[in-house]
Amino acid sequence: MKGFIRTFLAIFGAVAVAVIAIAGFRGDFTQRTPIEIFPDMDHQPKFKSQTLTSFFPEGRVDRPPPYGTIPFHVPTDQPYLITGKMGNMWGTGIPVTVDAKLLERGKERYQINCQVCHGATGAGNGITTQYGLVGVASYHLDKYREMADGEIFNTITHGKGQMGPYPHIDVRDRWAIVAYIRALQLSQNTQASQLPPEATANLQQKP
Ligand code: HEC
Repeated sequence: MKGFIRTFLAIFGAVAVAVIAIAGFRGDFTQRTPIEIFPDMDHQPKFKSQTLTSFFPEGRVDRPPPYGTIPFHVPTDQPYLITGKMGNMWGTGIPVTVDAKLLERGKERYQINCQVCHGATGAGNGITTQYGLVGVASYHLDKYREMADGEIFNTITHGKGQMGPYPHIDVRDRWAIVAYIRALQLSQNTQASQLPPEATANLQQKP
């Protein structure tokens, strides 16, 4: 009998410990380091994004892609599409289909990326200029109306002078923005006589 009770207590104790170990504290919060039976890959040497390191000379953990890296979906057999250059010269023409949809897309991308500085009409009077940013280009200067499409594309990709680069904007979206800039230029520099008749009729309706 004694032997039986002892065995019973031993098994009971072992089962109780196992049940508590498996299910007992589930859902509880603790500050203590958990006991890790299977640590898998929980612990590994790594850098957290946006932190500092002494490993790289300039101290940044986040690495820029190597210079000249092109996203894999960009066709490299169309140099004008990705550089804005035809041979050694800035090229002219928008190398994607220009239609209402492209202009809508260009307008949206322009409003997101450029309008803060260049303003809704591209006159160089965006909201940032009210807070002290000076020297923002107005697209309505002859210089920019005459500038090759490829050079504007290049300014978006690589920046210019005080303006930062926008290479993260998709290549086709950059061209959509160039097309929209052309539309903005037309909107501010068109003679009434160049308008289609239905638009001229609207002009004459003074409020
Ligand atoms: C943070 C403000 C800012 C934003 C945002 C900005 N620009 Fe600019 N942009 C400038 C400034 C400032 C200049 C004048 C640069 C200079 O001459 O130093 C400029 C110049 C330009 C020029 C004339 C470049 C030349 O060759 O002289 C073009 C074209 C242009 N921007 C297009 C764009 C487009 C397109 C976008 C959006 C993708 C954009 N910018 C976003 C500030 C900005």
